[in-house]
Amino acid sequence: MKGESLTQFIIHEQRRNPSASGDFTLLLNDLATACKAIGHEVNRGPLAGNLGLAGSENIQGEAQKKLDVITHELFVRSLEWTGHLAAMASEESDEIIQIPSGYPRGKYLICFDPLDGSSNIDVNLSVGTIFSILRCPEGAKHPSEAHFLQPGRHQICAGFCIYGPTTILVLTTGNGVNGFTLDRDIGEFVLTHPNMRIPADTSEFAINMSNRRYWEQPVQRYVEECVKGRDGGREKDFNMRWIASMVAEIYRLLTRGGIFMYPVDNKEPNKPGRLRLMYEANPMSFIIEQAGGLSSTGREHIMDILPEDIHQRVPVILGSRNEVQRVVSYHLEQN
Ligand code: F6P
Ligand code: MN
Repeated sequence: MKGESLTQFIIHEQRRNPSASGDFTLLLNDLATACKAIGHEVNRGPLAGNLGLAGSENIQGEAQKKLDVITHELFVRSLEWTGHLAAMASEESDEIIQIPSGYPRGKYLICFDPLDGSSNIDVNLSVGTIFSILRCPEGAKHPSEAHFLQPGRHQICAGFCIYGPTTILVLTTGNGVNGFTLDRDIGEFVLTHPNMRIPADTSEFAINMSNRRYWEQPVQRYVEECVKGRDGGREKDFNMRWIASMVAEIYRLLTRGGIFMYPVDNKEPNKPGRLRLMYEANPMSFIIEQAGGLSSTGREHIMDILPEDIHQRVPVILGSRNEVQRVVSYHLEQN
């Protein structure tokens, strides 16, 4: 095998922390197994009858795809028995998921989006699984939603697995960002992208332009400048991408830089943004900041937000440091 396996990598990390019990290492291993199982179902697609709608809606009022439901179940079944988790929260479940009484309860909480970008499944584009691990507060015998409502700064691990041309698991435990590619011949994730870094500058932006008329003025101004490039106030021309799959978008940022925005808009005034704080914005912010980038709502650091609701939505502006700072400065000037 060329390169270090994920198992070797996390055991080496564990050895650097003499107080570690090994519990967290085992949890990461089980998570990797869950991602392999999900990747397999995604890959089987139409062969397993996995495409199309499930005929139900999630708490967000979004139509669930069959694979949203299948992958949610797979994730829960892969992790509920392990003894490492105290409870789980899923984008696809209204309520907190308790550990069944027959299994031991552990010290960690996990928030997850089992299949991000699922509108892309039927058109065969990249989708992924996102997760965020928190410590369960001491003495919480019966974890409730309140125990999950911790700011993103409290995350001890965040990651995502992208099911694209290759399956890649990207992980941070607060010590940089590393990417592991699934080697199907041996069934192991192998370290292929050590110490991923986001360049401070970029000339690529990602935003759903069809929402343009609904954005606030600072975002209007920023995007207009990007579009005008050298003919406007900027020193360079910009390129644009929009995949409508956050995992794919963030993976691109980690590979070649860029800025990604899903800002607040007045399309649906009661929704403060589209992306979910606990399942999408916090884990991706942790990864982006660990790779040297920045992450903001435009008005505050995403990971400083004290969550009020497990399914809460937030505006998201993240990626290459200098561009994010520019968008934030436009918000400050407006206020
Ligand atoms: O889960 C939310 C999500 O699918 C993200 O992965 C993606 O960035 C976004 O929604 C796409 O939104 P839209 O369909 O508005 O472009
Ligand atoms: Mn999602």
